Amino acid sequence: MDKIKKIGVLTSGGDSPGMNAAIRAVVRTGIYHGLEVYGIMDGYNGLIRNEFIHLKTHSVSNIIQRGGTILKTARSMDFMEEAGRQKAYEHLKMHGLDALVVIGGNGTFTGANVFINEYDFPIMGAPGTIDNDLYGTDLTIGYDTAVNTVMQAVDKIRDTAASHNRLFFIEVMGRDAGFIALRSGIATGAEDILVPETVTYIDELVEILEKGFRHNKKSGIIIVAEGDDAGGAFEIARKVKEKYDQYDTRVTILGHLQRGGSPTATDRILASTLGYGAVTALLEGRRGEMVGLLNREIAYTSFEKAIKHHKGIKQELLDIARILST
Ligand code: F6P
Repeated sequence: MDKIKKIGVLTSGGDSPGMNAAIRAVVRTGIYHGLEVYGIMDGYNGLIRNEFIHLKTHSVSNIIQRGGTILKTARSMDFMEEAGRQKAYEHLKMHGLDALVVIGGNGTFTGANVFINEYDFPIMGAPGTIDNDLYGTDLTIGYDTAVNTVMQAVDKIRDTAASHNRLFFIEVMGRDAGFIALRSGIATGAEDILVPETVTYIDELVEILEKGFRHNKKSGIIIVAEGDDAGGAFEIARKVKEKYDQYDTRVTILGHLQRGGSPTATDRILASTLGYGAVTALLEGRRGEMVGLLNREIAYTSFEKAIKHHKGIKQELLDIARILST
């Protein structure tokens, strides 16, 4: 195996708070080990369009606290095509890069996996997505910040909900996963939390609302993950209203504000650890894996497993949410 001297780093997919901290960690760990580090702009698009920038220690100064990603990001359609990946490989060779660190989610690792199979190019990944939907890590970079952002927003909505005796349906991100909904729902004492991992029965939700009403609850918060099987927050609010109209209802879609903001300490430390972990893993000869954190220890999971397997939602947390919200 050839010695690694030059590495690249890119961010891809939806941005997440802490990606900058991860970039910083990759750059500084690389430089510490005597490597040259290149940043690639706009995710895989930068590989295809030849947008490489040499990163030095000071290039990543003052970014650990910033949301977004200084390297920008994209969901590259061109990288899904063979011709795009070939261009990407040619540019990697042209710049003499020996390995890559990719920071992103499911789509990012799917692309990396295809590329490794075609070109046998060393790549390690760090999980960067607010959704926390990757197998092989307890937490993904950005998830904790997103949960805190949602919590602060819901607390504010609670004030107005209570003042007006209203029932709010609040939609949070999570196309295929209810992690943000579940955790923020527990943190805000939501009356119910609807997630894609479990079947949503409108009658059951109505029962919960009726019970609350009998116990003199005058307002409520229902957190809806955007990918819930019963529909989005507007749709669910409409279905509930059809069967039960004791409450004046309102809907709030939190949307992309969940993706921005300064990362929490948890995300900064996680990103620093995983960025460092990805570079040291490459130097140890590891390839084709995502660096995650399991039970507070660095753990490696093949891209294939990280993509294919599903990290289930904990039933215990769902129980806690239900029991405590009555
Ligand atoms: O995967 C992260 C995520 O924020 C999802 O929760 C959400 O469904 C999606 O990205 C939104 O994507 P876009 O920014 O392309 O609208």
